[in-house]
Formats: sequence, C-alpha cells, structure tokens
Amino acid sequence: MVKGIRVYEHGGPEVMKWEDVDIGEPKSGEIKLKNKAIGVNYLDVYMRRGLIPSLCPPLTFTPGMEAAGVVIAIGPEVTTCKVGDYVAYAGFPVCSYTEEMILPADRVVPVPPSIDPIIAAAVLFKGLTAHVLVRSCFQIGPEHTILVHAAAGGVGSLVCQWANALGATVIGTVSNEVKAVQAKEDGCHHVIIYKQENIVDRVMEITSGKGVDIAYDSIGKDTFEESAACLRFRGYMVSFGFASGSPEPVKFSVFSDKCLHFTIPSMMLYTKAREDLLAASEELFDNVAKGVLRVRANHKYPLSQVAQAHLDLEDRKTTGSVVLIPDN
Ligand SMILES: NC(=O)c1ccc[n+]([C@@H]2O[C@H](COP(=O)([O-])OP(=O)(O)OC[C@H]3O[C@@H](n4cnc5c(N)ncnc54)[C@H](OP(=O)(O)O)[C@@H]3O)[C@@H](O)[C@H]2O)c1
Repeated sequence: MVKGIRVYEHGGPEVMKWEDVDIGEPKSGEIKLKNKAIGVNYLDVYMRRGLIPSLCPPLTFTPGMEAAGVVIAIGPEVTTCKVGDYVAYAGFPVCSYTEEMILPADRVVPVPPSIDPIIAAAVLFKGLTAHVLVRSCFQIGPEHTILVHAAAGGVGSLVCQWANALGATVIGTVSNEVKAVQAKEDGCHHVIIYKQENIVDRVMEITSGKGVDIAYDSIGKDTFEESAACLRFRGYMVSFGFASGSPEPVKFSVFSDKCLHFTIPSMMLYTKAREDLLAASEELFDNVAKGVLRVRANHKYPLSQVAQAHLDLEDRKTTGSVVLIPDN
C-alpha cells in the first residue's frame, strides 16, 4: 500500500480522496516508479470533472498523467530500463497522483541527471505539447507570426519561449499585468491583456491588418471565433485545449471566409510511437539543459493537498507549472 489520490465520482476538487492505494507489483513489460515529483496538467481537471469521455478512465481511478522518479522494481521482459534509473513519463496511463506507481516500461523516458525531478515533472507533459505545436504540427521559423493564448500558463510559457528561440514573432494573451510581465520575459514580442484590450483589434494593429499565420488556442469556447478572426488568409487554427469548455458548433464560414486550415493535435497521439517519444523528449531536455527553455515550476504543493492545486489552476491563479511533491 502507498498513499495516493482516488476519485470515486466526477466533480469538484473535493472528489479527490487521500487514501491508501494498492498498486501491486510490475508484470511483464512494466516497472514500478517511486515518484519524486508529479506534474499537474489542465487535462487532470477535465478527467476529474468527467469531461471528454473518450479520454477519461472509468471510475474509480487515480488521476495524474506525469511524474519524475526512480525505478524501484521491474517486471519480466523489461529491457529499456533498470532499477535505479532516473526517468519520467507524461500521458497515458492515468495514475500518477501516488507515492509509487506501475507503468509500462516503454512509456518512460530517461531524464538527464542535471535536470532536477521537480523541473522534469514541471516540463515533460507541457514541453512535449509545446514540441508538437512548434516543431511537429508546424516547423515554426522566423517567417511566422503566431498568437498564443494563456501565454503565462504551463504550456503557453514554453510555447512562447520556444517559438521566440526559433525566430517567430510571438503575440501572447493573458488576463492580467503580472502574467503580462512573465509573458514578456518568456519571449512574447507583444502581450495583449484581454480584459483591457480587444484581441482581434490588437492583433490586426500589430500585423498591419494581415493577421497571424497560426493561432494556438487552448481556451476553446471563449476564444475560438476570436482566434479564427485573428488569422491571415490561409492561416492555421490550432485548437489544442478547452479550458473554458468546448466551442459552440461553428459555422463553416469561420474557415471558408479566409480559406483557413484547422487542426486539433494531441501530444499523446504525436508521441505514441516510442521513437517519436524519445526524440521529442531528448530535444526538449536538451533545450532545458542549454537554457533555451526556462522551466517555471512556480507552484509546489504536497501531494495530499492536490485539491488546492486544482482550485488554484482552475481559478487562473497559477503561472507556469504546478507540481506535487509526495509527502514521504
Ligand atoms: N492537446 C494536447 O495534447 C494538450 C496537452 C497538454 C495541454 N493541453 C491544453 O493546454 C492548455 C494549457 O494547459 P496547462 O496545463 O498549461 O494550463 P495553464 O495554461 O497553466 O492554465 C490554464 C490558463 O488558461 C487561461 N484561461 C482562460 N480562460 C480560462 C477558463 N475559463 N478557465 C481556466 N483557465 C482559463 C488562464 O490564463 P489567463 O489567466 O492568462 O487567461 C489559465 O491560467 C489546456 O487547455 C490543456 O488542456 C493540450
């Protein structure tokens, strides 16, 4: 038995119960990981609430899709890692809000020893997502002007830094002045505080009426149509999250007016093949080690206090990444 979180019914942060969890022993192809740090992602909120049924595990479940730690046992036929290895994982399976857990060995990646577990757990999920957005889904370069919502959030902070490093012109949106300061530090050439300014008007002003090449939209319902309106002729709408809920049904004219392209990328699908997972995580950790990406592990909570972490994330009180530290 280890200590961890169990969810018996979907709902608010209070449905996450701190309990003894029986995780068992690793079977063929599996490892047991002792978690040093656990990343919190907005996807964990959707799962706790029971949104996106195709992604949610059946009740009862232990939430969490990211952690960094040390391998403490391996099952038969594991060849990719050994006891004592320092590794991390991001994505499926959903199970990381515990002190220890069982994982398929082919889902973990090695972490360079120079990267602290808190930083690894703060960056892997969000950084692989940023990799999808700026390196796989598109190869961002100096010719691009991009719009990034939630520019001071976990994924947003990394997308802005990475796109800036690749030479793009970055326009970020945030809700307040404090977040605007961070977004500027993270490479936004222009920051729009959307509670004070109209996003579409400002984008058109900044781009001299042309619009942006790519709109990265992680907000959904509240921003979808605005994002499309910010795009140039033949621009790309990248809808990769729904922090405000799913957009209302959209009229095709939103896309046909400017011959827009639309995509809805998933980090988990882009890194499903092990070689893609390894290549992307290597490039990510390399950029962290070189200082191209500064990882903002701005909020740390004991694992048992995860309800407060979810409350703060949903209330938009956080910037950068949220990390849970196992109590033992
Ligand atoms: N497709 C994928 O594979 C993939 C993978 C990872 C994450 N994601 C998505 O990426 C997004 C960011 O994830 P994250 O973990 O880094 O979270 P985050 O960006 O740190 O937190 C969410 C931010 O969204 C903004 N926001 C705007 N409207 C909101 C609303 N109604 N409710 C809550 N927040 C709102 C807030 O920033 P402001 O205060 O500045 O508005 C808030 O801080 C999420 O939508 C997530 O689902 C997608």
